[in-house]
Amino acid sequence: MYISTRSGERLTASQAILKGLSSDGGLFLPESIEKLNLTPDFFEKNYCEVAKAVFKIFLDDFTEEEIDFAISSAYDKINFRERFVGIKHFDKVSFLELFHGPTLAFKDMALTILPFLIDVSKKKNGVDKKSLILVATSGDTGGAALSSFIKSGKFDTVVLYPDGGVSEIQEKQMLYYTDDRTKAFAVKGNFDDCQTFVKEIFSRYNQKDVLLSSANSINIGRLIPQVIYYVYSYCQMRKTGKLKDGEKFNVCVPTGNFGDIFAGYLAREIGVPIEKFICASNKNNVLTDFFKTGLYDKNREFYKSNSPAMDILVSSNLERLVYLATGRNGAKVAEYMQDLSKTGKYQISDSEREFLKDFDGGCSTEEETIKAIGKCYKELNYLIDPHTAVAYDVYNKIEKNGLQTLIVSTASPYKFPFTVTKALSLTEKASEVELIKDISAYTGVPVPFGIKKLMYSKKPTVLKTKEQIESIVNYENLKVEISVPCSSANLGVAFDGAGVSFALYNTFGFEASDCDQVEGFGGKNFDNNLVLKAYKKLFELSGKEYVPVKITLKKCSVPSSSGLGSSATCIVAGVMAANYMLKNIYDRDYLLSVMTMIEGHPDNLAPAFLGGLTFSYLNGEKVISRKVEINKNLKFYAIIPSATTSTKSAREIIPETCSVKDAVHNLSRALNLEHAFKVGDVKLIKDVFDDKLHQPYRFPLISGGEKVKAILEENGYAVAISGAGPSLLAVGNKSGAEKLNLGVIDGVKWKVKFLKVCDKGALLR
Ligand code: HSE
Repeated sequence: MYISTRSGERLTASQAILKGLSSDGGLFLPESIEKLNLTPDFFEKNYCEVAKAVFKIFLDDFTEEEIDFAISSAYDKINFRERFVGIKHFDKVSFLELFHGPTLAFKDMALTILPFLIDVSKKKNGVDKKSLILVATSGDTGGAALSSFIKSGKFDTVVLYPDGGVSEIQEKQMLYYTDDRTKAFAVKGNFDDCQTFVKEIFSRYNQKDVLLSSANSINIGRLIPQVIYYVYSYCQMRKTGKLKDGEKFNVCVPTGNFGDIFAGYLAREIGVPIEKFICASNKNNVLTDFFKTGLYDKNREFYKSNSPAMDILVSSNLERLVYLATGRNGAKVAEYMQDLSKTGKYQISDSEREFLKDFDGGCSTEEETIKAIGKCYKELNYLIDPHTAVAYDVYNKIEKNGLQTLIVSTASPYKFPFTVTKALSLTEKASEVELIKDISAYTGVPVPFGIKKLMYSKKPTVLKTKEQIESIVNYENLKVEISVPCSSANLGVAFDGAGVSFALYNTFGFEASDCDQVEGFGGKNFDNNLVLKAYKKLFELSGKEYVPVKITLKKCSVPSSSGLGSSATCIVAGVMAANYMLKNIYDRDYLLSVMTMIEGHPDNLAPAFLGGLTFSYLNGEKVISRKVEINKNLKFYAIIPSATTSTKSAREIIPETCSVKDAVHNLSRALNLEHAFKVGDVKLIKDVFDDKLHQPYRFPLISGGEKVKAILEENGYAVAISGAGPSLLAVGNKSGAEKLNLGVIDGVKWKVKFLKVCDKGALLR
């Protein structure tokens, strides 16, 4: 059970995760803590196994299956491509790299799993409200929260950041992870304005069907996952012989909100032999003074430093340590916190100070931080970020006890290129992207994938007023625009089972209205409007009050009845719009199932909705879908004839049954599809395009189709019918198919269109 640091409020772990802060403003802590059995077997555990052991102690009401679900959903190859953490050993000092997650900061270690912990907690407690996560960020938490909640697909997320107040890379990172349900808005003002506004929204929020949560470190769902890496690094140090049996070590943690270092303290509580906790601060050194004097005094100037994640004057998580120092005296803590809010300070007693004897504080100035980066690079040939540099500087300055010290390295140096450039005395430039290239060229340290993918991403800043944000979080804005990409289904042998989406869009506008209306669809019959049909279907299934809608076709770039998924664009848009009007009550899996209910098969819908190359199939009424990797060297072309075919006739022409031989032919080739696209092997793609189940029946419907295929194949492309035809999809390693002069073949005029893979899927604005 968990107990509040101020009153006696007691909750289970899952309830504490849902609640975040206790009713009296206190933070939650476990009532009692078991020890891990740290025997040599334990040191062999991998990161996920250690995570499981830690969660079993702290998530007291979670079942083993629930813990496994959360771990396997978060700690995977998508979030952690190469490794979970890195540990670099030097003589007396080791660095624990916590920047190998999606946004290259330690926050990923906990935020990747938080959505799944919340999800399980909701189920356990019978909470069926939709979830809205609202976060104010000074730069780093926003990106980590967006990347995690977008991946889970079950939450609406709104992140607010100060307009012009975050770095170029941080803004790119946040915007990269936005979609129809995950938003990052710039707000006029500074970080404090954003945070105050978020607090105001929380205090007056009254949407009964929405569970509003935050994603900051006062929640135990963010704190507990941070314990894992302390346990894991101890295991690694034992396994590699860096530490012997019975040998203790120190941790040195760059600290702002006191969450990361407190997680280290919890690791010691469960048995990790940490001797000293070195709390490293920047110029905002309120904690350094606290550990020296026992007086916490925030009445001082607030500095904007070059280690911005630690620019904090109220270190919220310190309350947890103070609670333990008082001997778990909630009334005393409540008094201190009242002093803090009234006078901006509180003084702990001598006996409480005695309890904190294993903590040591130190701080680093701006110049010292920069020097520490240079020194570390020069002496250890190791590049660190400014936050880690604060810790390294403090480590160098404090009195040593002879033990190994583990410095927690909280962010990739590439997230702070301006400061790192200064430290390395490189030429200063205005663009962070240029600086990143220079740093990499100079140091030879490769630019991490998480930065590379952002460098050329150009999503624009979305500036919103407070009124606009308030209306968004209250779901008042029943007006939305949805762009859905085209898709090419089947991919030869994967008939009805695979599809890929491309950046060619149909855009639809939706607006709540007095009665249903459609506009811009040409002469088509209103009753047969597929967008409206799809929109109505979701409402019908929901049983909720219908919201009449005006649908406008704003942009139509996907040719209809051509095999490029134009009907899928209508269905995806209609269902997404209905979900929006229903305040996003449904998750992606369910929406895809409803879309499939309308279309019959998911292979065009899944990529149009989710983006990229997607495998999908129906399991009962549920659609199972999986996005797979596409090699960047592959070039895709749609070869579009002037004639059209109806999908209905192209499906009817296929026999109901097939021979075992043909089925085996397709199945055996389909087994290579994922690999062929991943490595970009065009020869193999040609094999997987060689299908016996639909193309032999459909090619005769496409006048000139076989001839066009032959020309393209001669030029090195693999060719398959796109969807139900009549367009063809050509895939190759070289550009230039558009230069092939296909012209008119068998009386049909052919057009070649280069297609860029659309990774994001449908976009809601
Ligand atoms: N798999 C589908 C078919 C795609 O080939 O008929 C077109 O809806």
